[in-house]
Amino acid sequence: MRILKSSKVALLLLLIFSADFLQAASPDPERGKKGMVVSASDLASQVGMLILKRGGNAVDAAVATGFALAVTYPAAGNIGGGGFMVIHLKNGKDVALDYREKAPLKASRNMYLDSLGNFDASRSREGFLSAGVPGSVAGLIYALEKYGTMKLEDVIQPAIDLATDGFPLSFRLSESIASEFREFQKYSSSAKVFTEGGELLKEGFIFKQPDLALTLSLIKEHGRDGFYKGTVAELIEKQSEKMGGIITKEDLENYSVVEKEPVKGTYRGFGIISMPPSSSGGIALIEALNILENFSFDKSDWNSSLYIHRLVEALRYVYADRSKYLGDEAFYHVPKEWLTSKEYARIIFMKISDKAALSKDILPGVNPAEESLQTTHYSVVDQYGNAVSTTTTLNSSYGCKIVVDGAGFLLNNEMDDFSAKPGEPNQYGLTGNEANAIQPGKRMLSCMTPTIILKDGKPFMVTGSPGGSTIITVVLQTILNVLDFGMNIQQAIDAPRIHHQWLPDELYFEKFGISKDTYDNLKNMGYVFGGTRTLGRAEGILINPKDGTIYGATDPRGYGKAAGF
Ligand code: GLY
Repeated sequence: MRILKSSKVALLLLLIFSADFLQAASPDPERGKKGMVVSASDLASQVGMLILKRGGNAVDAAVATGFALAVTYPAAGNIGGGGFMVIHLKNGKDVALDYREKAPLKASRNMYLDSLGNFDASRSREGFLSAGVPGSVAGLIYALEKYGTMKLEDVIQPAIDLATDGFPLSFRLSESIASEFREFQKYSSSAKVFTEGGELLKEGFIFKQPDLALTLSLIKEHGRDGFYKGTVAELIEKQSEKMGGIITKEDLENYSVVEKEPVKGTYRGFGIISMPPSSSGGIALIEALNILENFSFDKSDWNSSLYIHRLVEALRYVYADRSKYLGDEAFYHVPKEWLTSKEYARIIFMKISDKAALSKDILPGVNPAEESLQTTHYSVVDQYGNAVSTTTTLNSSYGCKIVVDGAGFLLNNEMDDFSAKPGEPNQYGLTGNEANAIQPGKRMLSCMTPTIILKDGKPFMVTGSPGGSTIITVVLQTILNVLDFGMNIQQAIDAPRIHHQWLPDELYFEKFGISKDTYDNLKNMGYVFGGTRTLGRAEGILINPKDGTIYGATDPRGYGKAAGF
């Protein structure tokens, strides 16, 4: 039995790493021998790689990439938002850093309800009131000080240079900024950065951000105090007061990073390490993998109607459980062990038939013990055996759309990730309850799923994605594409995806992503289609355990870069 299992894994590895690239529709992944950085921005990946080449470890490179993304990928790279970092250290230790935004101390449960008790989405999604207390700067500095080897001044300098000297806007980035032109024009501080005297920034424009350079320089000089105290904190509080926000200097000064044990599972003999709450991502990913492990997929199944059906059935249960049980652990007991247990997954598996269920007939599981989520991801591995998987966000593209005047960075609109009213969907259509209700100082629930997969205790795959509620399904399918279907990392990321999140009871797919046969089969089974959309922008790395070659792949849905050496 064991021989059978290990020969299956050997066959899988042969499939993933064999040189059949020429027969594939995807380009070859980027190859490296010593290190790899994959992020949504070419310039930021190059900054990370430079740090690796100078002998820095994966954490040094991740921190440098994170600060650079705040300059070169303003839609989601940030210092005004928050994120999660999952680290596998060469000594075998696994770490999860939670630097998610927090609700300000003046936040209250019903702050987004109008006088009639109706949810007012405009206030939770835009403007200063939608912003949570940012965590990114604290998180990056914490990671560097505890697990990095380089000085802050060295890893932040490339970001300062990019903000000071500017860089030519690529076509895709100029289009992305142009898509928010109207929003930016509403706020003078945002128009100052994202327009040129009220005109659109065009492709090739040298994009300089002097105020942001100043803020980054204050961080370089004073560490986290350069952001959470002094000039920057004062600028945030002043503008918050002026624009109907509630963030104060006290909120900023009190912000703290939480270091946690990652949530762990296994899938077909591989180890899974991912993000615990305040993200739902890791638990949801492991619950889904545990359910799907009971099926046997082979190459012929990929994207067949039966495969999609089984995937969706598992996802209905996973998202139903998310709605009830997931929230910030500091405020709500999350039954992690139960949700990620093989036994619970087996119970769900037994309920899944080859006939489509309806989401309305599926409720969150009953915990026996209880009877009584625009974002960006980057993946890094170094020459020493360390791996880092980081997802960070402002929530919506360009967050709350407001640049802190004089400080040059955008603030998040993460408060919309709370459940503002039970059952009321957020911008991603996700519903929630008590577990994710607004409370002062609480972290809003996320879907971000930065993940590291181990083979024999060593990093094998590093991945994650943006995409709000679709993050979990994107990461899941990227992993299944490798571990079940033997795709290489580029193929696994390129392959078309589907998405279902229990409610609304609709199946989404990418344009040209499923055949007419598959569509018709699913329709005949009773599936309701929500239409086509682009699903995620995964950034991934695979390491060949045999010879240590590192393969990196950026998502063709975006315009990032895998940089290896
Ligand atoms: N704001 C998206 C997420 O955290 O899931």
